Amino acid sequence: MIPLILSGGTGTRLWPLSRKLFPKQFHALTGEHSLLQQTMLRLGSVELQAPIVVCNSEHHFIASEQLAQVHHAPQLMVLEPFGRNTAPAVALVAMHLLAQGRDEMLLVLPADHLIKDENAFAAAVAEAGKVAESGQLALFGIRATHPETGYGYIRGESVGLLGQAQPVAEFIEKPNSQLAAQFVEQGNYFWNSGMFMFRCSDFIEELGKYSPAILQACNDTLAASKHKSRVLNIDADAFRHCPDDSIDYAVMEHTAKAVVVPFAGGWTDVGSWSALREVQAQDENRNACRGDVLLKDCNNSYIHATNRLVTVLGMSNVVVVETKDAVMIAHADRSQDIKTVVNTLGASG
Ligand code: GDD
Ligand code: MG
Repeated sequence: MIPLILSGGTGTRLWPLSRKLFPKQFHALTGEHSLLQQTMLRLGSVELQAPIVVCNSEHHFIASEQLAQVHHAPQLMVLEPFGRNTAPAVALVAMHLLAQGRDEMLLVLPADHLIKDENAFAAAVAEAGKVAESGQLALFGIRATHPETGYGYIRGESVGLLGQAQPVAEFIEKPNSQLAAQFVEQGNYFWNSGMFMFRCSDFIEELGKYSPAILQACNDTLAASKHKSRVLNIDADAFRHCPDDSIDYAVMEHTAKAVVVPFAGGWTDVGSWSALREVQAQDENRNACRGDVLLKDCNNSYIHATNRLVTVLGMSNVVVVETKDAVMIAHADRSQDIKTVVNTLGASG
């Protein structure tokens, strides 16, 4: 089994720490290791081949260096000139391996998640392995507990069997808030964790059925791309014609071969500063801090200092993030909207 690490995101909601040249997956947000390093380290007891990483060419060295630091030198770096989202990123790897006669089992892992219980994760990976061995596409499902709209929602076929692997009856990527609330109320929905396991040929077959334009574009792109030793440089002129789509919309919403493996090991998509506060140690007023911070009479706040001392007095529900060249102060409820600030800043962000 090969871990395929998707590391092409920009993590704009964690601005100003997460930047285009140094996005969130390369930061140590919770412990001493970066999110990318933790992605490999948590696979400790699982038997694996060396990973394959798909990332922007700008991040080639930082990604391979960070993995080497934790003794997981990648067997292949797939370098994208720009992102076309996750469906092409996975397709390029699967098709490249198939072209070499390697119909490998892929464990697709986003590079920017946190998981608390590594033993539970290893057990879920083993379960997903059985599913994938039988030619199905395994998804790792997390019990949906609140109407988060940034996730995919999965309904398993057998209501009442929420603890067991089961065929997916319905997959809805990023529903609106009304639908998401309905799903949570019904109580039999999982969130899609964004981690998957399947054999290359099974994924490519489903991609061909539901998104043939991506398959074709990736085929053309691979023919134009340069593979040398452990690096596959994706050709920009060919890749430009590839549709931009996620694996969720392109395949998972349509396939009849998806099976959800429940996972209850403390999973978090570190999607926003507020999400990060939830997973950090908090004081008695539910504040979490990182770096050199002094708080007085504050509640429900997240303060992150990287270069200077930051003091906050008498505030509730704020997020303060200080970096060398920018300081961001936001209401905690608005931490999903930081994207809009970054969009306004454009390239200078
Ligand atoms: N190489 C590469 N190229 N990686 C990419 C690209 C790309 O163009 N776009 C995104 N990624 C990486 C990100 O770095 C991240 O690790 C992962 O793929 C998922 O992308 P996101 O952009 O973070 O997706 P999302 O959070 O909106 O939604 C996905 O994850 C949710 C759970 O966190 C979906 O799978 C949802 O269904 C799921 O609930
Ligand atoms: Mg995400």
